[in-house]
Amino acid sequence: MSIEEQIRLDVELNEAEDKVFSQIDWENCPKHLAIIMDGNGRWAKAQGKPRTFGHKKGVDSIHAIVELCGKIPVDYVTFYAFSTENWKRTESEVSMLMGLFSSSLNKYIDELSAQGVRINVIGDLTKMSAKIQQEFAQASERTKDNKKICMNLALNYSGRADIARVTKEIATEVQSGTLDVNSVTEELITEKLYTGFMPEPELMIRTSGENRLSNFMLWENAYSEFYFTDVHWPDFREIHLFESILEFQNRHRKFGGL
Ligand code: IPE
Ligand code: IPE
Ligand code: MG
Repeated sequence: MSIEEQIRLDVELNEAEDKVFSQIDWENCPKHLAIIMDGNGRWAKAQGKPRTFGHKKGVDSIHAIVELCGKIPVDYVTFYAFSTENWKRTESEVSMLMGLFSSSLNKYIDELSAQGVRINVIGDLTKMSAKIQQEFAQASERTKDNKKICMNLALNYSGRADIARVTKEIATEVQSGTLDVNSVTEELITEKLYTGFMPEPELMIRTSGENRLSNFMLWENAYSEFYFTDVHWPDFREIHLFESILEFQNRHRKFGGL
C-alpha cells in the first residue's frame, strides 16, 4: 500500500481537502513543522468577542493539527504558544493564557497519550507557575516513549535566549576545562538547544498575515522554507496544512548551491 493509500484509511477528506491532498508527494513530506500560531486576537475582534475567546478557539486548531500530523508522515510539530515577549500583554490576558495552557493539557492529555503523541516543552518553564511546571513535566514523562508524533509546545520561549543559554553552558564547560574550545562547533550548539534532539524544521508556517519570525527558532530556521498565510490561527485546519505542504514541495531548496 502506498503512503497516500495508508493515510486515506485514517483521514477522512472532503472534496476540497482531497483536491489538495492528492497532489502531495507523501514520500517527501517535511519531518518537522514549526508553526507560529498568530491572529487569535484579531480573529476574536472581528466577531466582536474578547481576545481570550480567540485563544480558546486556537486550542481547537492545535488539537486538529496534532491529530492530523499523527496520521501523516510528520514526526515533529512545534507550536509557538507563548514568547518571552508575550509577558508584555495585560495581566488578565497573560493569566488567562496560563490557565488555558494548564486546562487544555488536562483536558487532552489522556486522548493525546492514547493516540501516541509525545508532549515536549521548549522554553524556560522556570518563569512559570509551579503548577504549570509540574503538569508539563508529568505530561512529558508520561508520554516520553510515544512514537506517533512529537508535539513541542514553545512556552516562555525565545530563540535568542536559547542561544544565550547554550553559549553560557559552553563557556562554563570551557572555563572548567571539561570542554576543549576547538570542540565548539555548529553541531555542538545545535545539540544543546532545546530542539537538539529533533531535525531542523523544513517548513515554518505563520498564520494571520504577519511576515516575521518574532524570535522563533532563530538558529533552527536557518534553511527552513517559510509559509505565510492570511488565515487566522483559530480558522487554521487540515486543508490549510495540506496547502502549506504542497507549496513547500513546489519550492526549490538550494541550500546555497546551484
Ligand atoms: C497568537 O495570537 C497567540 C499568542 C501570541 C499567545 P495573538 O494573541 O498574537 O493574536 P493577534 O496577533 O493579537 O491577533
Ligand atoms: C508570536 O506572536 C508569538 C506567538 C505566536 C506565541 P506575537 O503576536 O506575539 O508576535 P508579534 O508581536 O506580532 O511579533
Ligand atoms: Mg499576534
